[in-house]
Amino acid sequence: MILLVISSIICLHAYEIDVNTFSNYLDVQNRHLHLEWLLNMDKKYINASSSYSFQVVGRSINKISLDIYKLNIYSTYLQNGILLPHTIDSPYADSDQGQRLNIQLDRTYYRGEYIELSIKYSIDSRSRSISFMTKEQTSTKTMPYLFSQCEDANCRALAPLQDTPAIKQTYTATIIYKDTEAQDVFMSADESKDQFKILNKPLDEANFNWKYKYFIQNVPIPSYLIAIVAGNIQKVPTSAGIRTFLVSEPDKIAAYTEELKEMEQFLQAIEQYIGPYTWGTYTLVIQPPSFPIGGMENPLLTFANPSIMTGTGSGLAVTIHEMAHSWFGNTITCVNWANMWINEGFTVFLERKASLIHYKIPDDIKLNAIIGNTSMYQDMLGYGLDSNFSSLHPDTTGLNPDDSFSEIPYEKGYQFLTYLESIVGEVDFQNMLRAYLAQYKYQSIDQKEFQNFLLRYLYEQGVDDYSTKRYKILENWNKWVYSPGLPPVFLDFSTNKLTQALDYSNAYITADGKQPPNWQDYKDFLHSQKQVFLEDLFKKAESKLLKLNVVNQIDKDLKLTEENDYELKFRWFRAILTVGDKSRFTQVADFLGSVGRGKMVYPVYRALNQLDHDFAVQTFRSHEAFYHPIARNNIINILGLKDSFIQ
Ligand code: BES
Ligand code: ZN
Repeated sequence: MILLVISSIICLHAYEIDVNTFSNYLDVQNRHLHLEWLLNMDKKYINASSSYSFQVVGRSINKISLDIYKLNIYSTYLQNGILLPHTIDSPYADSDQGQRLNIQLDRTYYRGEYIELSIKYSIDSRSRSISFMTKEQTSTKTMPYLFSQCEDANCRALAPLQDTPAIKQTYTATIIYKDTEAQDVFMSADESKDQFKILNKPLDEANFNWKYKYFIQNVPIPSYLIAIVAGNIQKVPTSAGIRTFLVSEPDKIAAYTEELKEMEQFLQAIEQYIGPYTWGTYTLVIQPPSFPIGGMENPLLTFANPSIMTGTGSGLAVTIHEMAHSWFGNTITCVNWANMWINEGFTVFLERKASLIHYKIPDDIKLNAIIGNTSMYQDMLGYGLDSNFSSLHPDTTGLNPDDSFSEIPYEKGYQFLTYLESIVGEVDFQNMLRAYLAQYKYQSIDQKEFQNFLLRYLYEQGVDDYSTKRYKILENWNKWVYSPGLPPVFLDFSTNKLTQALDYSNAYITADGKQPPNWQDYKDFLHSQKQVFLEDLFKKAESKLLKLNVVNQIDKDLKLTEENDYELKFRWFRAILTVGDKSRFTQVADFLGSVGRGKMVYPVYRALNQLDHDFAVQTFRSHEAFYHPIARNNIINILGLKDSFIQ
């Protein structure tokens, strides 16, 4: 016992700080946030107020600093009415990190005291977290549409906040909107039975029919999980269960519900590995195609790109992944973005465990790990194999942490956990993860804390060969986390299905423009095998082994240019553009205007830009208004264009 107490004392360590927030979050911490937003969807404008319950945790403070990004700040005041002076500065000039809002308090506040303050402000179309869309940009073309995307550090474009994953708070919200501008509104929170006091009534109350909706999130969450969607949208249950729901524009809802009928089973598969889902319900919003990523795990309200709805179920891994975040990311959160693998690596690990339970295809898990490893390696080459962005601990001081976004926290994180599992043993590792959740729920931690917990757990459980296991765990730990480039230990995910997919692409190369004898194998391939085949074609295109005559034969046989599954289609276009194929430019341009998911459009723009810069720019210009601001910026960078802001 004494030994245990001593070992836990030794293990205590101060968590890493977050270099991407300007807030003084180590001295004062928000416990509850209340938002009141009056949406002007047509005018792309939100009249907003935010109220906070700050608790002093340092010795004393006389000011509160918050993160903001292109918000219009009107006034800052204590809830008892006292106006507080504020200033705005930019510690990193011209930085994507945004600005700092400094609020001068009326006196010195001491540890334990609460400070209730409010801010009046507005959000306009410069916001990088809210996408305001016109009705023409939607599917039903009946109402404007808006949605938010806050991870990593974009929530500061939505409200003045301690925009760091280190701070968790509960939140409530009142959303006021015109019935002609939105059919419904949802947030990453439950609907509240209580109505909240309204601070700013609509001025033109008599002229329009205003609706009021009240939300409450009782679980403390980091600010990047605050989310909203509004427009001509509806909510329907999926599957027979009562836990899973779907939100989308009404014209698509029937087809989506059909494809999502196993949502409840996905949740059960995850629960089987990790324990009960504690958030209540689970709702998936299928956003318009400009949604810039595959999925975002906003609690109670996952957002996803419609490209996951292929009609065949092949894109549903994204749903399982976002569900898995309910445990890793949303319950235990990384303390800063350098530790993102504490969210993403663990989530991929749980996603693959659940996929195995649900689909029972071990080869598929291995192939996904191989596909992930390939993308991770491509990202590493992009950053440089010796860049710290190629490690599990990127340094994003002075940057927008989004800049370090890559497959590395996902796949290197997944491989690290798989490696640790191989040392610890599957059963002990699973139990350890369940205990880890119980220990750190609703907290934010860093990788060192996970290491401490893992060792402590194994010791306390009295596992066999504790000291050997401890030695092995520690032996490569720092290399896994801090060394850039490929992992220090190679994990072998090869299977016959991999060989089969690679043999298939080789057969096409050997046939040199004719039909290979095994050409029909493709239709029975696992979806992951199809991806491996297309990845291999891209590799062969890069090394000039793939020729136009082979491209034409493949397309004749497999009809990939007409493919509806974008996970396959983007890989196909990337490969053929790399070969130098200009004959399918129209289809490529159409594709780039029909999806705004970064993972799918960036690689195609990169390949197109190398082949024909002018055509790439022309294509981008014709779809510019369609893209989300995040995607738009990234494409501008890929094409080497100077930013020119459009409203
Ligand atoms: N949390 C991420 C999305 C994210 C990460 C947004 C970092 C902004 C910054 C989400 O869970 C995710 O990983 N989405 C993936 C899909 C997944 C199946 C790997 C995506 O969008 O591609
Ligand atoms: Zn994720």
